[in-house]
Amino acid sequence: MRLREGTAADAKACAALFTAAVHGLAGQHYDSAQRHAWAPLTPDITFWQQRLAGLQVLLAEDASGLLGFIGYAQDGHIDMLFCAPRVARRGVASALYREAETRLRQRGVERLCTEASLLAQPFFLRQGFTSDAREEVERAGVRLPGYRMSKMLD
Ligand SMILES: CC(C)(COP(=O)(O)OP(=O)(O)OC[C@H]1O[C@@H](n2cnc3c(N)ncnc32)[C@H](O)[C@@H]1OP(=O)(O)O)[C@@H](O)C(=O)NCCC(=O)NCCS
Repeated sequence: MRLREGTAADAKACAALFTAAVHGLAGQHYDSAQRHAWAPLTPDITFWQQRLAGLQVLLAEDASGLLGFIGYAQDGHIDMLFCAPRVARRGVASALYREAETRLRQRGVERLCTEASLLAQPFFLRQGFTSDAREEVERAGVRLPGYRMSKMLD
């Protein structure tokens, strides 16, 4: 597995992986209506190009293609973190997160924060985050429960 920086040119592949991750991994926590509101089966690629262009993006790849990606802001907000269902629980998200945290530490960021899905909460707890509040975000008129989480960097 290797990591590289992503750009808006990776929007199509990232959108496809995001859609597969939500529908393939989040079924235990979010019902079909919630998954479709979160990840429409036909992603809006222009929206994804704009979203990626506004973030720092790291991709994990191997010879088989894209394995996962993380999108974060330079202020320490982790905006997106997804892995392909076929490689779940094999350390892809951990590798992406570790590299993003290293880069943010080097910039002097003191606090990381994220809005974690119910599925991602244990992942972020494992990375040293704490759950600050349970919250619901709205997508396409559907409420999606999750957690606001944060981590202070030494
Ligand atoms: C959450 C997600 C990014 C984790 O990716 P991953 O590559 O499977 O994570 P890792 O293999 O690096 O997991 C590291 C640790 O996090 C925890 N963890 C990860 N996924 C977990 C799960 N489904 N349930 C419980 N703990 C989990 C475990 O402690 C795991 O270590 P272990 O496998 O040795 O027990 C992935 O499941 C995903 O894309 N989910 C769908 C979308 C989503 O919710 N994204 C986050 C939006 S905020």
